[in-house]
Amino acid sequence: MKKIVINGEKELNGVINVSGAKNSVVALIPAAILTDEVVKILNTPVLSDTENLKRIITLLGGDITFGNGEMIIDSKNVVNNAIPSDLSERLRASYYFMGALLARFKKVEIHFPGGCKIGKRPIDLHLMAFRKMGAVIDYNDDLYTIVADNLHGANIYLDFPSVGATVNIMLAASLADGITVIENAAKEPEIINLASLINNMGGNIVGAGTDTIRIQGVEKLHGAMIETIPDRIEAGTYIMIGAVASKDFKVCNIIPKHLDTLLSKLRDMKVDFSLGEDYIILNKSKDLTCTDIKTLVYPGFPTDLGQPMSVLLTQAKGTSHFKETIYESRTGHFPELKKMGANIEFEGMDAEITGPCGLQGCEVEASDLRAGAALIIAGLIAKGTTKISNIDYILRGYEDIVVKLTSVGADIAIIEE
Ligand code: UD1
Repeated sequence: MKKIVINGEKELNGVINVSGAKNSVVALIPAAILTDEVVKILNTPVLSDTENLKRIITLLGGDITFGNGEMIIDSKNVVNNAIPSDLSERLRASYYFMGALLARFKKVEIHFPGGCKIGKRPIDLHLMAFRKMGAVIDYNDDLYTIVADNLHGANIYLDFPSVGATVNIMLAASLADGITVIENAAKEPEIINLASLINNMGGNIVGAGTDTIRIQGVEKLHGAMIETIPDRIEAGTYIMIGAVASKDFKVCNIIPKHLDTLLSKLRDMKVDFSLGEDYIILNKSKDLTCTDIKTLVYPGFPTDLGQPMSVLLTQAKGTSHFKETIYESRTGHFPELKKMGANIEFEGMDAEITGPCGLQGCEVEASDLRAGAALIIAGLIAKGTTKISNIDYILRGYEDIVVKLTSVGADIAIIEE
C-alpha cells in the first residue's frame, strides 16, 4: 500500500506554482465532446481525475493527446457508448458525460458516479433538470438511461446551488432547442471557466458567475481553446501551509479574488502575508488568533478548504467554532488529528477547536481528498514522523504534491509498505 511519510517541523522556503483547477478541468474535458472538432485545454493538471476522464473519452472513440499541460481532444469519432461502472465510479465528474452526451446524441447510458465519500451526494437536481428539458430517465441496476428525443430549453430553479447540477445543465442546454434559464445557479469560478469554453466553441451563455444563467442552445459547436483557471483549493491549501510552516514562502499563479473569503479569515487570524497581483508571500505566524468558520457555497468559505483550515485552527490561540454546512460527513480527519494531539470536540458537523497545541506525528488515514490535505498540513508541523495511508484520494486532487513540497524544503515522500 502506498503511504505518504512526513518528517515534520521543517521551515519551508521557496516558490510553489499552483496548477490548473481540478474542479474546472473535470468539466472542461467532458465539454470538449460537445463538438466534433478539436478542443485544446491549456494548463491541464496531471491528476488521476484527468487520467480517468481521458479513459472515458477514449472509450467513447475520442482521440486525446496530453503533454506539457496541454490536452488536445479530437471528438470527430466519438460514439455514444455506455459508460461502465468501473469507469464512472472512479470519480464524481464522470457524471458530466450525462449532460455532454445528452446534448450531442440525445441519449446517454451511464452508471452512478464515484467521488469522495463525504455525504449522501444525490443527483436528484441533475435528473430533475434533464426531465424539464424533455428527457425520460430509466434507472435499472445502477445504470441510468437518459433519452431526450426533443431536448429543449427550460426554466430550472435549483433548490440548492449545486455546482454539479449547474455544470450538467449548461452542457445539456448548450445544444438544446431554445433557451434554458437556471435560477439559483452555482456561482463558483469554475462555472465561469466552463461558460467561457462553451462560448469560445460558439455557444451562447450569459450570466455565469451570477445566480441566473441563461443558455441559448445552438445547432452546432466548433473547436476552441481554453485555459484552465488556477486551482483556488490547491492555492488555499499551500497558503495555509505557508501560514504555519514557512519563511518567505511564495505561492504563485493565484487569482486573489477567488480566495477572498480565505484571505479575510487569515487576516482575522493575524497570519503574516502580503498579496501581489497573482501571488502571495507568507511567513509562519507566531501568534495566530482563533476565528469561526462556516463553510458555504461560493463566495462563502469553501467546504473544500474547511478540513485544511481546521488544522490551522489547532495552532490558533483560543477556541474556534467550526461548522460544515454543505456535506454531512466531512469529519473523517478529526479523529486522526485528535490522535496527533489536537484539541477538537465535534458533534455532527459542528466542532470546537482549541489551540494552540503541539501535534505529534503518528500513523493516520485519509478518509477523503481534503481530509488527506489536512493531514499533510498537520504532518508538516508535527514533531516526528507522520505516516498517511489511503493516499490515492490525495493524488486525485493535488498535482505533484510531494514534488512541490519537497522543492520548498519539506521532508516528504511516497513509500510502498
Ligand atoms: C463540487 C466540487 C466539490 C465541492 C462541492 C461544493 C467538483 C468536481 N466538485 O462538488 O469539490 O466540494 O462542489 O462546493 O466541482 N446536492 C443535492 N442534489 C443534487 C446535487 C447536489 O442534494 O442533485 C447537494 C449535495 O449533496 C451537497 C450540495 O448539494 O450537499 C453541494 O453539491 P454540489 O455543489 O453538486 O457539489 P459537487 O458538484 O458534487
